[in-house]
Amino acid sequence: MQALALQVPSAWEALLGQLREGSPWRMLMVAGPVNAGKTTLATWLAQQLSDRYRTFFLDADPGQSLIGPPTTLALSSLPLDPDRWLRLRFVGHISPEGHLLQMLSGLCRLVEAARWYRAERLVVDLPGHIPGEIGRELLFQILDVLRPDYVVALEREEELKPVWQCFRKSRRPQMVRMAVAQAVQERDRLVRSGYRRERFQRYFAAARLCRLSVAARGLHGMVPSWANPEAWRHRVVALCDAQGFSRVLGIVVRFDPQLQMLYLWAPPFRAREITTVQFGRFRLDPAEVGLMGQRPVTPEGS
Ligand SMILES: Nc1ncnc2c1ncn2[C@@H]1O[C@H](COP(=O)(O)OP(=O)(O)OP(=O)(O)O)[C@@H](O)[C@H]1O
Ligand SMILES: [Mg+2]
Repeated sequence: MQALALQVPSAWEALLGQLREGSPWRMLMVAGPVNAGKTTLATWLAQQLSDRYRTFFLDADPGQSLIGPPTTLALSSLPLDPDRWLRLRFVGHISPEGHLLQMLSGLCRLVEAARWYRAERLVVDLPGHIPGEIGRELLFQILDVLRPDYVVALEREEELKPVWQCFRKSRRPQMVRMAVAQAVQERDRLVRSGYRRERFQRYFAAARLCRLSVAARGLHGMVPSWANPEAWRHRVVALCDAQGFSRVLGIVVRFDPQLQMLYLWAPPFRAREITTVQFGRFRLDPAEVGLMGQRPVTPEGS
């Protein structure tokens, strides 16, 4: 779908004025249902703020990822580039549902990383609100643990009311409720899955079939049973460093339990920097992202 020229509603300008002229703050989150214009507003705010402040952007949507591949959360500096990030955390799926703990811990670690980078302003683009109990509790816990200064709630029908009511009497977060902009274009399931495939294809464009020993490495997340080879096939995994950040993602082709060897497609990486392999439940057929036949290579530094 062709993106229309950006329309900036007066409510966005008013919010920007408040963010520039009001009391100092550090973190703002944009929340709302799917197709609400969250990413458009979050990137616009980050860009506008970046000419005055050391501004960072946290793409916290593992489904319609703007930065990095789907299944991950990414911390970036400005100007934004979909193929460039500072730190990446693996959630394990394209929806936080079923991976809530990884979603929350990933957010916490990336917010901490932003502090480490001395961010003066951090804009967080949250995933589309999941209707019902799970989405409500996820948003509540995110706000309760991270206590952003501002939450901009984009709403059609007060979808986030049960959550903002919980913080009515709190000093933080300050809730800014806004109607979904008229210019927002709905994207259906097909468009959304096409976008994800494109993002994965781009990410794995330089992938090679690799061998990685797991004998001296930790495995965590939804680790499949060693007795069930089928459960390993086509799992998307993250190869993580000692700080717990994802260096690269891989697509498992097979696991050899005798040799404790993992065969996977992954972009180039240094094996000596990989201390753990994180599993989620998401599977991706390598052929679907253009990866086929090749002799496995041994990564650098293994
Ligand atoms: N103010 C605007 N002016 C012009 N186009 C807009 C505006 N806001 C959103 N859009 C368009 O609407 C579509 C959806 O917007 P966006 O991706 O920001 O929504 P989202 O809430 O982040 O969606 P998702 O739930 O998929 O993450 C995009 O094509 C975007 O370009
Ligand atoms: Mg979005």
